[in-house]
Amino acid sequence: MKNITMKGIILAGGSGTRLYPLTLVTSKQLLPIYDKPMIYYPLSVLMLAGIKDILIISTPMDLPRFKALLGDGSTLGINLSYVSQSSPDGLAQAFILGEEFIGDNPCALILGDNIFFGDGLSRHLSNSVERAMRGEATIYTYYVNDPERFGVCEFDERGYPTNIVEKAPNPKSNYAVTGLYFYPKGVSEKAKTLVPSPRGELEITDLNNLYLRARQMHVTFLSRGYAWLDTGTHESMMDAAQFVQSIETHQGLKICCPEEISYLNGWIRKEDLERIGKTMANNEYGRHLINVASGKVKAWSKL
Ligand code: TTP
Repeated sequence: MKNITMKGIILAGGSGTRLYPLTLVTSKQLLPIYDKPMIYYPLSVLMLAGIKDILIISTPMDLPRFKALLGDGSTLGINLSYVSQSSPDGLAQAFILGEEFIGDNPCALILGDNIFFGDGLSRHLSNSVERAMRGEATIYTYYVNDPERFGVCEFDERGYPTNIVEKAPNPKSNYAVTGLYFYPKGVSEKAKTLVPSPRGELEITDLNNLYLRARQMHVTFLSRGYAWLDTGTHESMMDAAQFVQSIETHQGLKICCPEEISYLNGWIRKEDLERIGKTMANNEYGRHLINVASGKVKAWSKL
């Protein structure tokens, strides 16, 4: 029997127009969120889910910079591949561009500008992987006070999800669908049946509704204790950076540090972590890696 492997895609293209002039000559997802490039955050989430085979999709202009930063992933004990998206034609296009990479496997998708943080996230992630292996998709919802800006999940009186509506003027709930999705095998075939929306995009909401209608969609609620941070505007990017700085400085731990997660997952050795740390020993990031490797910092929870 063929081995089934959970695959993961980071969608890191787009035009980033709301961040102009910051993104005129560089990708949004390479900009810093406090002490690390933005893409480290979604990359860490996939790694926390135990996913080692990861595809990064970005624009033809930006892809070489992602390759320069992360290479083939071997430094992190993972396998990275790259595919370019020539124009931002929608989130669901990721599964068409990634068809060969996904093969006959289940696949997760995370948006390159989404930050997730909270105790118990790893458990949620492994439950989502198990469900995807069994044939069920998972989306994550988060209570927001401006639901009209998002895709929103609607529920019946018993709390069952009934529909997902994209940027409705009068949304029926406050539960926004976040940029983290898990699908069972066959997601590329489903994505190919979608037609572009009036705004010309292959909508992830349409894909999610296919699973919802087929009763193959689980909704995980990220409760109050979680942070789901958007980094798409100058203000929200600054807020996210300050959030990360505040938690990291307070606790002396790191949020979404892929080298540390790889080590805790057993994908790289202590010596590897120490070696990476030494390449940046003149800052807190490098010293943290060295301290984790030496056992001076013991982080029981991975995030
Ligand atoms: P958006 O925030 O919708 O768009 P954007 O990043 O291009 O920014 P702006 O609105 O300022 O112009 O995209 C969400 C994420 O998905 C972001 O990480 C970019 C990525 N994306 C793609 O990679 N390809 C796509 O086709 C789309 C629509 C988005």
